[in-house]
Amino acid sequence: MTTGGQKRLREYLEKIYRQKTKKSLAVHRRAEKVMIKGGSHSLRLFAPYPVQIVGAEGACVRDADGNRYLDYWQGHYANILGHNPAVVRSALRSAEKRGALHTGFEAASQIELAELILGQLGYKDFRIRFTTSGSLATMYTVMLAMARTGREEVLKVGGGWHGASPFLLRGIKFDARRGFGAAESAGVPRDLIKRTWVVPFNDTQALEDMLKRRGERIACFILEPVLGVGGFLPARRDYLKEARRLTERYGVALIFDEIVSGFRFCPSGVQRFYGVVPDLTAFGKIIGGGHTIAAVVGRWDIMKLCERRPGGGPRVMFQGGTFSSHATYTLTGAAMIRHLVGQADRIYPRLAASGERLRRGVEAVFRDEGVEAACTGGPGDVLTGSSLFMVHFPRKPWPALTPEVLNDPLYSDVAFREETLKLALLTEGVHVMHGGGAISTAHAAADISRTIEAYGRIAALMKRFRD
Ligand SMILES: Cc1ncc(COP(=O)(O)O)c(C=O)c1O
Repeated sequence: MTTGGQKRLREYLEKIYRQKTKKSLAVHRRAEKVMIKGGSHSLRLFAPYPVQIVGAEGACVRDADGNRYLDYWQGHYANILGHNPAVVRSALRSAEKRGALHTGFEAASQIELAELILGQLGYKDFRIRFTTSGSLATMYTVMLAMARTGREEVLKVGGGWHGASPFLLRGIKFDARRGFGAAESAGVPRDLIKRTWVVPFNDTQALEDMLKRRGERIACFILEPVLGVGGFLPARRDYLKEARRLTERYGVALIFDEIVSGFRFCPSGVQRFYGVVPDLTAFGKIIGGGHTIAAVVGRWDIMKLCERRPGGGPRVMFQGGTFSSHATYTLTGAAMIRHLVGQADRIYPRLAASGERLRRGVEAVFRDEGVEAACTGGPGDVLTGSSLFMVHFPRKPWPALTPEVLNDPLYSDVAFREETLKLALLTEGVHVMHGGGAISTAHAAADISRTIEAYGRIAALMKRFRD
């Protein structure tokens, strides 16, 4: 599309959106007076103003004006069973009956959740500790790795988002000048972030070169086995196997961030499919049953550094926080995981089939209108299916399917996806994150069809406003 065409399309969509969401605007005006940009999470605060979600059920959310949206945001991908699933509601009722919603004490439900997660991974001599957010979980994994190795440098992949841990705020957004090398956040000491190195995803040679150069100073290599916000791209099996071999050779702790991938592809981490055992894993999102539970799973000899250091010295201050291992939320988490384990044969193939249909369907409707678009989120060489999808608008032929290409504005129109496609889908009654999102078991076949049709109408609009 030409810049002029994009501008006119944007104006056309904004008019419809403003018509549909007058109450959302009123709520936003009120919020703006007390909160920066009117909210607490930048991703939710898009232009011209965010839609105000006031209710949710199953596959849908409802806004202040009474509009319904098929929701692929699904609680930042946490709600694999859709909004308010019966298993979670029932766990919440039993917590309420028990009458102690926040005690600050450990509850038996955390043991069940721990047993379920560790049991599904099936490793010997691993332990788990809970906390309240994915950001904290990844931060603790890095601290544990540093304590174990006595080193103070970190290695991550370009496009990898691990939450707001200060160690990991580098190489997330593609920067026109520096690729994925830039530091992302003010307020992080330069000396700290200079110790974080970034390598390209799925590139064994780059990893080997980096470890040859700095391996003896690097405490850990952290990555998502299925890259999330960077493009929903699965790691290749040989890459993860080599990552394991190389990190072992250089004495570097291997950390998997399975905060998105954990329990999304199977009732465990995807590491189970890859046959690669990391030293530490961060889980979050799905494992809380829609509530604030995250966890670190790791080798016993590393995890024990939370409580004591061999030969003295301070332990790793992995306290988890006031609400850590919350009695109600470990109950909802355990109910969720028990359900996913018990119903795995039904749930995961169905999610995979919906994902396949949606990805193919969306690509087809753009193709039919002669609009260049591609959908990532598919399974790759190890996973058998996937319920994730992300739509991209190539600007010129892609030399490879990498996070660099998906996020470089020279190759992909990221701004159009993040701003205009999002608005267009809202006018169509579909709510997405990064041009797509995560399918839940609450999304029926008819919902997938409606979603594909919505993308189809947007493809037609893009054609209409092309010049
Ligand atoms: C892969 C990954 N790691 C870590 C995080 C941070 O988790 P939280 O938002 O719970 O802090 C996220 C959040 O989206 C994530 O996608």
